[in-house]
Amino acid sequence: MAAASRNRARDKYSVLLPTYNERENLPLIVWLLVRSFQESGSNFEIIVIDDGSPDGTREVAEQLEKIYGSDKILLRPRAKKLGLGTAYIHGMQHATGNFIIIMDADLSHHPKFIPEFIRKQKEGNFDIVSGTRYKGNGGVYGWDLKRKIISRGANFVTQVLLRPGASDLTGSFRLYRKEVLQKLMEKCVSKGYVFQMEMIVRARQLGYTIGEVPISFVDRVYGESKLGGNEIVSFLKGLLTLFATT
Ligand code: GDD
Ligand code: MN
Repeated sequence: MAAASRNRARDKYSVLLPTYNERENLPLIVWLLVRSFQESGSNFEIIVIDDGSPDGTREVAEQLEKIYGSDKILLRPRAKKLGLGTAYIHGMQHATGNFIIIMDADLSHHPKFIPEFIRKQKEGNFDIVSGTRYKGNGGVYGWDLKRKIISRGANFVTQVLLRPGASDLTGSFRLYRKEVLQKLMEKCVSKGYVFQMEMIVRARQLGYTIGEVPISFVDRVYGESKLGGNEIVSFLKGLLTLFATT
């Protein structure tokens, strides 16, 4: 067997799925993920990090664990809503793969892009592959003008202040080498949505290589976004802190 295919056979992808009130979305995203990994013959596990969702997401996750098996669906819940950034850290501590995929559970990130992430990673031996809405065929569908301006604005201001050299700084659909993600998490101070931006900025500082794959981000159909005014304020604070300290 050639070295490359031996490596391929050993690679394992751990998907981190943070959930807060995603009862309607979880079965479909999990089904799509399982299908995608099975089609491409990749070894995988899905780690669901539910933060005590009042809508019963956890019970749905328990059903899925029964259906797909506890080696494929790992439930690593927390008692209450502690934020996205720390949900990833919590999930990663339980990951057994050598690659970690971070994505949203609300179907805004389609699992069909994962094989492209994997191909891209192998092509350039990248440390990180970042999905981008702001390059090539990438795009955003279903957002109102206000939300588009917030996202574009956050990207633009960060590009100007920090020049991180990636086109989508606030997106969260990414693949990381596990040890790279671990290092980045040690360095990152933010806890909320600003986490994604800080991760990619720190990645550049540490000299990690980043490949990009255009993705389409489709706004959720079920449930609602947890991004509120508080997150925008903490994004700005995080950005200024990074600007001042890096
Ligand atoms: N466990 C946990 N705890 N999960 C959470 C929390 C939390 O405190 N807050 C949100 N989530 C989960 C949601 O259930 C969903 O799976 C994912 O995190 C993203 O949350 P959304 O509320 O759907 O985010 P969004 O659509 O507004 O924001 C998306 O775009 C942002 C900007 O481009 C996400 O991709 C963000 O990560 C991204 O920064
Ligand atoms: Mn969403």
